[in-house]
Amino acid sequence: MLEGKKLEEALHGGPWEGRVVCLPVTDSTNAEVRRRAAQTKSILAVTAEEQTAGRGRRGRTWISPPGENLYFSALVRPDLPAPKAPMLTPAAALAVCRVLGTFGVRARIKWPNDVVIGARKVCGILTELQPDGQGGYCVVTGIGLNVNQERFPDSIASVATSLKRECGRAFERETLLADILCGLTDCFEAVCRTGDLSGLREEYESLLANRMRQVEVLDPAGSFMGTALGIDDSGRLLVRRSDGPVEAVFSGEVSVRGIYGYV
Ligand code: BTN
Repeated sequence: MLEGKKLEEALHGGPWEGRVVCLPVTDSTNAEVRRRAAQTKSILAVTAEEQTAGRGRRGRTWISPPGENLYFSALVRPDLPAPKAPMLTPAAALAVCRVLGTFGVRARIKWPNDVVIGARKVCGILTELQPDGQGGYCVVTGIGLNVNQERFPDSIASVATSLKRECGRAFERETLLADILCGLTDCFEAVCRTGDLSGLREEYESLLANRMRQVEVLDPAGSFMGTALGIDDSGRLLVRRSDGPVEAVFSGEVSVRGIYGYV
């Protein structure tokens, strides 16, 4: 279990102090936070040692073995129109990378919001909107970070990694959790200030693993190949098509893969 005292110390004086609930097990921390949203006036984070039905993007499962990793969801009420809420997901990826950087880990972002080390994914982020019952909405940002896991199931072994595998040492999950929650607050505030990603764009692009790489854009309307150039202020990936024009690719519709592998 996460050590309550260590976590309290790490959260002390920050916006998340007294607002983090630690559970031994739940189905999904995103689902848990959404169930608690109506009774929560302010912000809330829920973390679990184990998830029995961890959810990934595009209906995938997030494999969530007990005791080694971080699975948590943050409920926030950003001052941002709902259609702009998807911009918070790349902002969250940036927050995770920043924190990992302070621990000496060189993590980067596979657009739009997978955090990778080298060519392997170490962290996934799932953002969901939750109606607040009064015509507004709140945002649930769920983060799965592989921290101290040493072995992965065959199905994901070639594309997944953990901080421990990459750095050869264990990491203290309480500090990581507290730092990432504070980092989320900072990055979300930056998005709300401008109403877009303009304040974070340069830093995001500096961490973009796909930048200037050949990618295949898997678009239901027709896939194409091109070179990823960066993002625009709303987080769309700018891809120069092999046949000429630059297209802005929206993450809700398409996924992107490197032509030589996952990144
Ligand atoms: C992805 O990369 O597909 C997103 C994975 C998100 C996983 C996290 S783990 C904590 C939170 N609870 C969930 O059920 N999912 C997110």
